[in-house]
Amino acid sequence: MINFKELFKNNEEWVAQKLSIDINYFEKLAKGQHPEYLYIGCADSRVTAEELMGAEPGEIFVHRNIANLVITTDNNVNAVVQYAVEFLKVKHIIICGHYECGGVKAAMNPTDMGQLNSWLQTLRDVYRFHRAELDGIDETQKRFDRLVELNVLEQCLNVIKIDHVQRSWYATGFPSVHGWVFDVRTGKLVDLGLDMEKEFAEIRSIYDLKPLNK
Ligand code: CO
Repeated sequence: MINFKELFKNNEEWVAQKLSIDINYFEKLAKGQHPEYLYIGCADSRVTAEELMGAEPGEIFVHRNIANLVITTDNNVNAVVQYAVEFLKVKHIIICGHYECGGVKAAMNPTDMGQLNSWLQTLRDVYRFHRAELDGIDETQKRFDRLVELNVLEQCLNVIKIDHVQRSWYATGFPSVHGWVFDVRTGKLVDLGLDMEKEFAEIRSIYDLKPLNK
């Protein structure tokens, strides 16, 4: 476990290491950001976004919360998505779930979790949408893994329900939306290979926000 005092010492070493490669590193960093990716992942300490992708500061716009949810009334995630799409003009939005997700696991057990109840309800809803498939999986671990994947799919759909995303889609064809899972058991990133255009086409008559006369 990392000692509290070591955090600042580590930071000094990190600064020195960056400067040893490029003396103007932070001068350049301070000039602004032009990330092509918005990454929405779990707050889990094992799923470290940039590090597991080998990305440098400035390359990924990151939002993390418990179980990588995109909830329509969450002002935080909505602001992140709007800023990323309208101002940063990201080309890709990635929803990254992970196996062994504590949030997903908690949602599989109907228990009173206090403040977490309303957050976990979104995950319980995902379970309900896919109940037939999930209840058909006998092995608990496999059912857990599948709920992680189905949650990623549902959160991808939630992203394309957002007006800012749809407006940008119709104007520019971007951003693409991707569903990934990080496998904490192997360290590998798995692309679920979701075809979001096809997924959206199926629910378009319900969620399409384009004015009818256009
Ligand atoms: Co998690």
